[in-house]
Amino acid sequence: MKWAVISTWKMSYEGNLQASDILKNQGNAEEAVLRGIGIVEDDPSFHSVGYSGLPDIEGHVRMDAGFMHGRTLSFGAVGALEGFRSPVQVAHKLAERPTNNFLVGEGAAEYARKHGFEERDNLTDDSYQRYLEESGKLKPLSAYKGHDTVGFVALDRNGDLVSATSTSGLFLKDKGRLGDSPVIGCGFYADNEAGAAAATGLGEDIAKGVLCYQVCTLMKNGYSAQSAASQVVSDLTRSLTKRREHCDSISLICMDKEGNIGVGTNIPFAFVCADDTHPAQLYLAEPAEGDTRITLISATEISGID
Ligand code: GLY
Repeated sequence: MKWAVISTWKMSYEGNLQASDILKNQGNAEEAVLRGIGIVEDDPSFHSVGYSGLPDIEGHVRMDAGFMHGRTLSFGAVGALEGFRSPVQVAHKLAERPTNNFLVGEGAAEYARKHGFEERDNLTDDSYQRYLEESGKLKPLSAYKGHDTVGFVALDRNGDLVSATSTSGLFLKDKGRLGDSPVIGCGFYADNEAGAAAATGLGEDIAKGVLCYQVCTLMKNGYSAQSAASQVVSDLTRSLTKRREHCDSISLICMDKEGNIGVGTNIPFAFVCADDTHPAQLYLAEPAEGDTRITLISATEISGID
């Protein structure tokens, strides 16, 4: 059977390569997405995820993550988790339980500590410096350009689909604010009988369309992954723009149960994908009159892409 993996933003390139290796070598989708996201969580050059993530208004890096397995529909999520190396690993562990799958704040930290997850202060000199520079300025908050949430969706050779996300959330968010990334159906979803998806962009706008559940429902009802992704993003963008003259950044990756991918976006959005026919490659998706234009980024253009 085919394997495939798709992930958000250029920052996921190295993680996608490693996730591909796992899938190619008979590993499962669960391991693949955790490895892929773990690479991004550990890299201090990306300021919207994990180590060196950007802080909230109080100067604390409080992180969100979600995980869902498409065979069992089990999911786990953490919100506003502070002081741990890999929020997505904690979300994955929470998916093993029948209840209490979504923990936030100190409850999530207590659970992570009790289960021996590695602790780490994710605030670096660099992220604190950015906090000092920006925290006094009065301006509307919007999705962090070019990075935001890392999301991975993968299909393994057993036909299992998995989706997961990790982010430090909106820069300078209020204490306790949660975005879409840890909320099942909004930031992530996976169902072996339908497809799987992950979102990135402004959580408050993504949540208004419950986008990841929506796109999986369309795929279940026979839409191709690409038409489903284009449709949910352009419908929500149109609907919000009509009602309040503005829709913030929204991008979505998805995959059907055969491993075909779809991408919807209302901004220029880079993503990475690989499958059993080609290695990890970087693409640029752009909105194009209700549809999505997708172009392969050549090695010479890569430095100009977020
Ligand atoms: N999409 C990430 C957030 O809004 O927190």
